[in-house]
Amino acid sequence: MKANQAELVISAVAEEQYPTMDLPEIAMAGRSNVGKSSFINTLLNRKNLARTSSKPGKTRTLNFYLINEILMLVDVPGYGYAKVSKTERAAWGKMIETYLGERDQLCGVTLILDVRHAPSGEDVRMYQYLKHFELPVVIIATKADKVTKNKRPKHVKQIKETLGLHKEDSVVLFSSETGQGKEEAWGAINRLRAK
Ligand code: GTP
Ligand code: MG
Repeated sequence: MKANQAELVISAVAEEQYPTMDLPEIAMAGRSNVGKSSFINTLLNRKNLARTSSKPGKTRTLNFYLINEILMLVDVPGYGYAKVSKTERAAWGKMIETYLGERDQLCGVTLILDVRHAPSGEDVRMYQYLKHFELPVVIIATKADKVTKNKRPKHVKQIKETLGLHKEDSVVLFSSETGQGKEEAWGAINRLRAK
């Protein structure tokens, strides 16, 4: 899909602030600093629409981006960021869970992982959580530019095994640096949207 129009509708921290439009939503999930916001920018061919940082903990709200008036991409704070207080981490956890668990418009989730590393315990728990709520999911293995081409299949295999990936779910190799996987990721998002 070509995103001709993309705009931030709202940065929400509470349900009352979620947009009232009844459009399909696709949410990003993943560890802090894995590249969720960069993934959105790359899909949209925008450098800095979603704010990114080399330091974890950049995205702290649910950011709803309206695409071509037909679809909403939702940037989500990352989990696993050690430097925030327990209270703040609990509040983020609650915010993410409320959104993922209760939002009617949510029709799928892209679970974003760093292709270099085996999924963490929290990644596995997130995957199981999404499966539990029967949310369609696609795994985006990003930062593919950081792994040599011949080693990528081995990393993807490790991701599948560690997650216990169900056969209906797929892994898209992606890089926000090179744009690799952009078409495939859009294809996957459109399939989530159609489910
Ligand atoms: P939080 O908002 O803290 O949860 O992080 P995030 O998951 O949104 O990560 P973000 O997009 O801010 O990216 C984190 C860092 O990783 C930035 O320095 C990005 O430039 C870098 N990064 C993201 N994607 C890629 C990629 O595909 N390749 C490379 N080499 N770097 C990337
Ligand atoms: Mg972010």
